[in-house]
Amino acid sequence: MMNTRPHPGPLPVLLVLWLSTISNAPAAEPAGAQLDFFENKIRPIFADNCYKCHSPANGKIKGGLELDWKSGWEKGGDSGPAIVPGDPEKSLLLKAVRYTDPDLQMPPKGEKLSDAQINDLVAWIKMGAPDPRVTRPTATATAGYGGKGKDHWSFKPLKKPTPASVKGEAWVKNDVDRFVLARLEENGMTPNDPADKRTLIRRVYYDLIGLPPTEDEVMTFLTDDSPPAFEKVVDKLLSSPHYGERWGRHWLDVARYSDSKGQFNRQRESSIYPYAWTYRDYVIKAFNDDKPYNRFIMEQLAADKLPPANDKTSLAALGFLRQDRCVDQRLPRPHRHLRALPRSQVRSDSAGRLLFAAWHLRQLG
Ligand code: HEC
Repeated sequence: MMNTRPHPGPLPVLLVLWLSTISNAPAAEPAGAQLDFFENKIRPIFADNCYKCHSPANGKIKGGLELDWKSGWEKGGDSGPAIVPGDPEKSLLLKAVRYTDPDLQMPPKGEKLSDAQINDLVAWIKMGAPDPRVTRPTATATAGYGGKGKDHWSFKPLKKPTPASVKGEAWVKNDVDRFVLARLEENGMTPNDPADKRTLIRRVYYDLIGLPPTEDEVMTFLTDDSPPAFEKVVDKLLSSPHYGERWGRHWLDVARYSDSKGQFNRQRESSIYPYAWTYRDYVIKAFNDDKPYNRFIMEQLAADKLPPANDKTSLAALGFLRQDRCVDQRLPRPHRHLRALPRSQVRSDSAGRLLFAAWHLRQLG
């Protein structure tokens, strides 16, 4: 679906640098346009064609040369520095990619870079080879997107656990209680007394819809002595439209939902996203409709590409991609997000979240 690859590195810092003023000095901190050039043109060349054999994080340092960070090429490999900033013709790396020396042709086996890629390397070295990759990547950082996060319980396949065995059987009403009680017993603790009905209904209201019960609702529950009295309350709350408002908020927080661009000093444009609410309502409805999670994610990434083609309502899901002021200024229409994200906006926050979501989806199969 996307050509972007996970992008290690201090994203906010890069963004700040990118926004800083442009200067031509081959400074330690590359200036905005130069950094953009590195991210758009140079990093992909190294990552796609060289990291395989020249990255300590991949466990391969052929010729003693590390190309996945700045000091790597500065120090160079067995033959010394690979790049002479400002001087392409003196740079061993360029000689290697130009295939002029039959004994040093990189990448090897005839997988020569295109002329355009080589020209980009020349231009980059001429500008002083500005490179923001100042720390040596560790194996875990690039072992694959998500790193150790893949061990998180939420990415493990479901399996039926054996309920814990407990001493205080009398307290147990269902298997979930067993797990709770087992932990308490493990720590020499005993459960509290059950909450009274008034407290219980208040808690479950706040929990499921974020609002307190009315007096009538409390009274109905207090006077209902039937065994499923509590279940009835829960079912009612789960089917309440407020349920989606309460729980959709968590997703909206993650997506950084906002009605405005957060900058109120704009002169030529409004700081309000006039249609932001369509995305907000989409999320709320998805929760209320029990939309399957994988569909929920896919729609937010690519509703415009999903069948049925005429389903206009799910297009609001693409608001996910708009919740970022950097992306927003450049990309006035939904399609443009998808086209432009792999380029310079890869650093932006939306793209990070997009990649996370895409990866998450892959884990779900
Ligand atoms: C398939 C593995 C492989 C890939 C991919 C690869 N290299 Fe190499 N590279 C080597 C090996 C092996 C050496 C050691 C010298 C030799 O055997 O040719 C080397 C050596 C070098 C050297 C010389 C280092 C020195 O100091 O002697 C440079 C420069 C270099 N590679 C640049 C690159 C660049 C730039 C890329 C990507 C465009 C790249 N390599 C991709 C395997 C690879």
